[in-house]
Amino acid sequence: MRIGILTGGGDCPGLNAAIRAVVKRGTAQHGCSIVGFQNGWQGVIDGDAKPLTRDDVSGILVEGGTMLGTARCHPHKVPGGLEAVQDTVHNEKLDGLICIGGDGTLKAAGKVSDAVGIPVIGIPKTIDNDVVGTDAAIGFDTAVTVATEAIDRLHSTAESHNRVMVVELMGRHSGWIAVTAGVAGGADIILAPEEPFDIDQIAKRIKHRHRYKNFSIVAVAEGAVPAEGTSWDGKPTLDAKGNPIAGSIGHEVTKALEARTGFPARLTVLGYVQRGGIPTAADRLLGTRFGVAAIDAIVAGESHKFTALSGEDITLKDFSVMSGKTKWVPEELLQAASGL
Ligand code: F6P
Repeated sequence: MRIGILTGGGDCPGLNAAIRAVVKRGTAQHGCSIVGFQNGWQGVIDGDAKPLTRDDVSGILVEGGTMLGTARCHPHKVPGGLEAVQDTVHNEKLDGLICIGGDGTLKAAGKVSDAVGIPVIGIPKTIDNDVVGTDAAIGFDTAVTVATEAIDRLHSTAESHNRVMVVELMGRHSGWIAVTAGVAGGADIILAPEEPFDIDQIAKRIKHRHRYKNFSIVAVAEGAVPAEGTSWDGKPTLDAKGNPIAGSIGHEVTKALEARTGFPARLTVLGYVQRGGIPTAADRLLGTRFGVAAIDAIVAGESHKFTALSGEDITLKDFSVMSGKTKWVPEELLQAASGL
């Protein structure tokens, strides 16, 4: 079989582990030839393909980012996009496609498979960990590890200067990184989109805390929002797609807390540091296991499915399980984040 592979959407550590597993397992175990597409679906539209051999993936297990490049492109939203994909599938004599991506890229995979009739298997990746149907997506563990280390570091400077340290973390519309790293890093206040906040209550908690401690750490998810009817006068900035601009909610929260508590407050926006660098052992393992499961599935004739982590097991789930949905932080974890 001749199998194409692409990485789409925001990059993250662990993508190369999945690519490496598909190439090594596909060539050695199944005698497949693997074709890599540059820059996600854009490369499939442009026919920008290169054969991938075991040599090409040697040594990439520890490398962050993606050796194939990526882009935020969805063929069904590009004029002539699906036709161009059809041509590439024909010209490259592809028998199947493995798509590594978040909800946008995998949704496009389903549409391409329906329109072009090529079998597709998806591998979920996103530091936001918001893909329904899998306990974890590639990249989340590394992002949490980086964010937790940052919060650890902020403790010493916050304590030295008797300050309120606000750290803004990625996560788009969900709070997985802020809540998980916030709890692991011992943040005093964690603001997640799943639980709209009351800034006066937050200020009150900080003032109470500063009766016996002279610093506080506030972890804010970039998608956090104030509760309706609270005295919030901040104006976080949104981009053309309605996504929060990095740093805007963090800036507003920092300003509001300094004004309401009288304590000096400073902001750290962790940004793309959460997406860069070497993958953790957990993300290398997850990427490898997903890669093996994906190539085994497509060789076995499966399609319209994605690899999922369910407890300790890797399973296959239908695209319909995750398409167009968001996995929110569960109540139990929110309780752990707000109730210590
Ligand atoms: O989805 C991953 C993510 O890093 C989000 O956490 C963040 O909101 C967004 O991508 C940033 O998007 P871009 O890479 O297009 O700036």
